[in-house]
Amino acid sequence: MQAWKDFQEQNKERFLNELLDLLRIPSVSADSAHASDVQQCAEVVMQRLLEAGADKVEICPTKGYPIVYGEKITDPSWPTILVYGHYDVQPPDPLELWHSGPFEPVIKDGRIYARGACDDKGQFYMHVKALETMAKTHSLSCNVKFMIEGEEEVGSENLGTFVTENKERLKADVVLISDTSMISMEHPSLETGLRGLAYMEVEVTGPNRDLHSGVYGGAVANPAAILCQMIASLHDADNRVNIPGFYDDVAELSSAERTALNEAPFDIEEYKKDLGIHEVWGEKGYTTLERTGIRPTLEVNGIWGGYTGEGAKTVLPSKASAKISMRLVPNQSSKKIEKLFTEHIKKITPDCVTVKVKALHGGEAAVTPTDSIAYRAADKAIETTFGKKPIPTRGGGSIPIVALFEEILGIKSVLMGFGLDNDNLHSPNEKFDLFNYYKGIETIPYFHRYFAEMSKG
Ligand code: BES
Ligand code: MN
Ligand code: MN
Repeated sequence: MQAWKDFQEQNKERFLNELLDLLRIPSVSADSAHASDVQQCAEVVMQRLLEAGADKVEICPTKGYPIVYGEKITDPSWPTILVYGHYDVQPPDPLELWHSGPFEPVIKDGRIYARGACDDKGQFYMHVKALETMAKTHSLSCNVKFMIEGEEEVGSENLGTFVTENKERLKADVVLISDTSMISMEHPSLETGLRGLAYMEVEVTGPNRDLHSGVYGGAVANPAAILCQMIASLHDADNRVNIPGFYDDVAELSSAERTALNEAPFDIEEYKKDLGIHEVWGEKGYTTLERTGIRPTLEVNGIWGGYTGEGAKTVLPSKASAKISMRLVPNQSSKKIEKLFTEHIKKITPDCVTVKVKALHGGEAAVTPTDSIAYRAADKAIETTFGKKPIPTRGGGSIPIVALFEEILGIKSVLMGFGLDNDNLHSPNEKFDLFNYYKGIETIPYFHRYFAEMSKG
């Protein structure tokens, strides 16, 4: 639509500067030192939604960080789109690996570098600018509701309660989320699935205090070494997860579905080169796309214990710990996996140490239908602005709210992400290409229009 194009072209620079301002707020939800920044970020999001044309915006307090709720209801008979996103970001460390400050966004080679550039400030903000485009050009065709939360990166603990308590207010025909990736700009894609998650912490304790490793080493179990042995045993020789019952409920794909999934463009040599690895790794019998898309996995996210400072200290540590997460696929239950994991860890812990296992957070996998009106509207919107039909893919990440929306509100989601897998999410030098940012802002209004048209039948 020409009016949209013109409006976006005229306001291009402002759209970018507003995002850069948002990226300057270090809204790190995991770090309580940033509590006031997270809070301030919510207020800025509220302000921006109002400026973009939302007619009711509210900062809804929770037991944790607030949820920003906003809406523009133009005509109750129109279909309603609920946009979900998150204004909190991951911690930026290790800081020394950033080429520029994580909260001092810079544009280099057509890319915005900053924590949250892609995950998810850059992506949810596209929806704010899309709303502004439609509102200012008097071309809205759907009602739109926004729910932008501040605790996604720490497990969205208070979101389920909020959704349950606000069922009426959140009523919508579809949830639209931009918090996932595309294959590339040449190969636009739509994610049709997300994995679930069970996140655990394991603490192994040996002696009641740190000991001199010469005086006691060799005679008292070293919890760091024992923990490593336990972790190493969690995968078998085929790189399958070695926890009894782990695969029991896994939904298997038909061979036709697997073939389709593997038809997505994927260059394994490029992949290895980008990551600086000589070989890929994973469950025997599955391709890389299958390993990240449709198979459950187990990862060690962090491991610590003993002396890690400068130089050498001869010590036999009293404790060692690890953070271990499992990605889950449809039909697995995060609660059940937490239980299997805990029981198994207790069973393999030798008598010379004691162990504590704690579940940190979890969520269920989700698949989104490809025959719905909403999916077809997204497909057509992308085809309109990219000139190519998007390829359906299964993503490896998790957005637990997708399963919750379905369970509590009975609404399915569309995952219309414009990021790239190598945007360095959760890593140093997170980026978002300007092209992707503007392409998202261009595409979203078409989703509204097609969703409205197709909903009329
Ligand atoms: N946006 C990501 C999830 C994602 C990234 C999905 C890329 C698909 C492709 C989200 O912010 C995230 O990081 N989720 C966490 C889980 C959450 C419960 C902490 C994740 O996937 O680790
Ligand atoms: Mn995200
Ligand atoms: Mn994230």
